[in-house]
Amino acid sequence: MQDELSAFIETNSAFEGSAGRIQLPPAVAEMTLFTASRSLQGQEVRKQLDTTFASLYHDLDNGFQPINFMLPWFPRPANRRRDIGQRKMTQIYTDIINTRRATADDGKENEDMISNLMHSQYKDGTPVPDHEIAHMMIGLLMAGQHSSSVTSSWVLLHLAAQPQILEELYQEQLRILGSATVPLTYDNIQPLTLVKNVIQETLRLHPPIHSIMRKVKTPLPIQGTNWVVPPSHVLLAAPATMGKSDEYFPNADTWDPHRWEHMVDPKDQEREKMDYGYGLVSTGADSTYLPFGAGRHRCIGEQFAYVQITVVVSMIVRHFKLRNMEEKTDLVATDYSVMGYLFAHCLYHSIANPVTSHCSLAPWNQHTCIGSDARSTSLGQALLQRDMG
Ligand code: HEM
Repeated sequence: MQDELSAFIETNSAFEGSAGRIQLPPAVAEMTLFTASRSLQGQEVRKQLDTTFASLYHDLDNGFQPINFMLPWFPRPANRRRDIGQRKMTQIYTDIINTRRATADDGKENEDMISNLMHSQYKDGTPVPDHEIAHMMIGLLMAGQHSSSVTSSWVLLHLAAQPQILEELYQEQLRILGSATVPLTYDNIQPLTLVKNVIQETLRLHPPIHSIMRKVKTPLPIQGTNWVVPPSHVLLAAPATMGKSDEYFPNADTWDPHRWEHMVDPKDQEREKMDYGYGLVSTGADSTYLPFGAGRHRCIGEQFAYVQITVVVSMIVRHFKLRNMEEKTDLVATDYSVMGYLFAHCLYHSIANPVTSHCSLAPWNQHTCIGSDARSTSLGQALLQRDMG
C-alpha cells in the first residue's frame, strides 16, 4: 500500500509543487482503489486499472444509483453498460485465475484474496468455483471502495479544518515509529492510537452506510416494552443517529478524536458473541457504535479498512500540511438523501456544484469535479503544503 501511495503522490498532478489547492475526494478515491486492488486482488488487477479495468469499473459503479435498489432490471443505458461490465469483469478475473493455475500458483507468490479463495473449500470439501471467486472479487471491490474512500476523505477534510490534530498525528509517528520515514507495516501501525481514534471519531459522525436493514423472520419482542414486531416487517438501524446522540457521546456534534482516550472502546461494549462459521466474534448488536453494522452480516472488511485508511492518512501526514480554504472551519454537509455506497458521488457532487444539495440521479462522472474550479465551493477542498521538515 505504501509503495502505491508513494508512487501516486510522486506522479499525480494534484500533488505537484510545494504548495497548492486540492480536491481531496477524487484524489482519495483513486488512492483507495489502487491500494485496495493491489493488496486484496493482486498485481494483475492493479495493472489493468490503468487500462480496460478502469472503464469497466466506472460502468459497474454507475449501476449503484438509488433507482437500482428499487428497479435493478430497469432498461436504462447505464444498466445495460453495468451488466456488460459485470460480464467482462467476470471474464477478466476468470482469465487471471486460469493463468495463475497454468503457472502453478501455490498461493505463496500472490498473497491476495484471489489466491486465498483459489485454495479454499466449502465445509463439505467442494472447492470454490472460479466464477464464484470472480463474483466475490467484484463484490469486494464495490463493497470496500466507497466506504473506505469516503471515510478517508472525511478524515482529511477534518484534519484540514483542525490542522493541530494533523500535527499531533505527525508527532505520534515520530514518537512511536522513531521517524516519519520508517516503512509502514501491519505491526508497526498498531500502536498508532491517535490515528485509530481519528478514524473511529470520523466514522461516528460520518458512517458511510447510513441505513442497516433487517427483515423480521419470527415475532420479535422489544425488551422493556409490550411491543412485538411481527414477521415480514423491516427494521432499520441508523448508525449516525446514535453516533450523534449526546446521551452516548457528550458534545456529540464536535469532532474530537481525543474523546476515545476516555471512552470505553466500542468493541468492549460488544458483549454478545456468536460463531457464524469462522470462529467466535462479537455481534456488535448491543453497541451504540455501529458504523460497521452488527450481527451475521457485520462488515468483514473492518480490519482491512482500518489498515488502509491508517496508511492513506499516515502517508498524507508524512508529506503534507493541510488547511481549509479561506480559513474556513466548517465542512461540507453530509447528504443523507442517498444510498450509503453512493455517498462518495454525492460528496463529489456537492463539492463540484454548491447549488445542488442532492445527488443527481443522472449518470454522473466523478471526473467532472476534477479541475472544475470555476464551479467549486471551497468546502471540501483543502490547501496543501508539502512538509519540508
Ligand atoms: C470504513 C469502511 C467500511 C465501512 C464503514 C463499512 C460498513 C459496512 C456495513 C455497515 C456493513 C453491514 C451492512 C449490513 O449489515 O446490512 C458492511 C458489510 C460488508 N462489508 Fe463493509 N465497510 C467498510 C469497508 C469494507 C471493506 C474495505 C470491505 C472489503 C474489502 C468491506 C466488505 C464488506 C462486505 C463483503 C460486507 C457484507 C457482509 C455480509 O453481508 O455478510 N467493507 N460494511
